[in-house]
Amino acid sequence: MKEKEIEDLIADKSFGTDIFDKADKIRKENFGDGVHLRALIEFSNYCSRNCLYCGLRRDNNKLKRYRMSSKEILSCAKKAFDMGFKTVVLQSGEDLFFKTKDLCAIVYKIKKNYGLRVTLSAGLLKKSDYGDLKNSGVDRYLLKFETSDKKLYEYLKPDSVFGDRLKAIEILKELNYQTGSGIMAGLPGQNDKILAKDLKLIKDMELDMVSVGPFISDPDTPLKNCSTIEEFKMIKILALTRILSPFSHMPATTSMGVLYKNGRKKALLAGANVLMPDITPVIYGENYRIYPGKNIKDPEDNINEIKDMLSSISRHISYEFGDSVRGGFYGKNS
Ligand code: 5AD
Ligand code: SF4
Repeated sequence: MKEKEIEDLIADKSFGTDIFDKADKIRKENFGDGVHLRALIEFSNYCSRNCLYCGLRRDNNKLKRYRMSSKEILSCAKKAFDMGFKTVVLQSGEDLFFKTKDLCAIVYKIKKNYGLRVTLSAGLLKKSDYGDLKNSGVDRYLLKFETSDKKLYEYLKPDSVFGDRLKAIEILKELNYQTGSGIMAGLPGQNDKILAKDLKLIKDMELDMVSVGPFISDPDTPLKNCSTIEEFKMIKILALTRILSPFSHMPATTSMGVLYKNGRKKALLAGANVLMPDITPVIYGENYRIYPGKNIKDPEDNINEIKDMLSSISRHISYEFGDSVRGGFYGKNS
């Protein structure tokens, strides 16, 4: 698909089902009906950056900041293991307090004690740090590029350089990480032309994991009062992402569930094949406020809810690792 074609499909307001049917078919062919669960541990909400859209930005002094200790992170990983998860995702703001060697030690123990796959999502680091983390056992890394428009990117992330982000994603791939990236949709200033370019870049990156979620305006950020993206358009963007990236794992994001009724279910019907239940201890997780409305519940209730939701759409939890299906070190079709 050419960029212009993608743009026209994004702009098209008519309610056809072709794109959705095609996305669902591709999902089923490449991933089946099993949905991979990744247990999310939000281990620090400190951030040294100041992204305009994000509630964790350093200038947000309304947020109560926390850091989990190594011991707490490990006990959370144990909980994930006991609950039957196969992957933990360690996520934080760009917290300069955590040294790479501390993270390496935590990851090493998680791998040794529980044999879980470990995904890290801790922002932009030096190449040598990505290398050390890989050697300590980190399997996957998530680093979204948020938008492919350099000007918009550097406006929204005032202390960041777009080229550095792309370079970092390349490095992660070179280091043989299962690499994830993606965007937010509905950002202020992100028109359909930019969105089409965003999806094209996702496709060209040949990612192992792709995350596309709606922007949600947070009252404690400079982007308060900004409107977001309407539901139909958002779901169409997910379906187009699936069509353009047929072999990338794709989550039904928490933000889908926060913004739209049955949002995650709708995402699973439009190509998504992954869910990321949050198992951060509630006392901390309620302060991981990237955007408002994140619904904190008892994790075990959540799993039952997930099972019910999945069975209502003839899907089920997959208890496989859910590694990349792209090839390379872990892949099946190399
Ligand atoms: N709305 C939706 N997603 C957001 N993120 C940050 N702020 C928002 C928001 N206001 C997402 C970004 C980032 C991750 C930390 O959370 O995509 O990569
Ligand atoms: Fe920090 Fe990431 Fe939020 Fe930016 S998006 S303020 S880097 S947590």
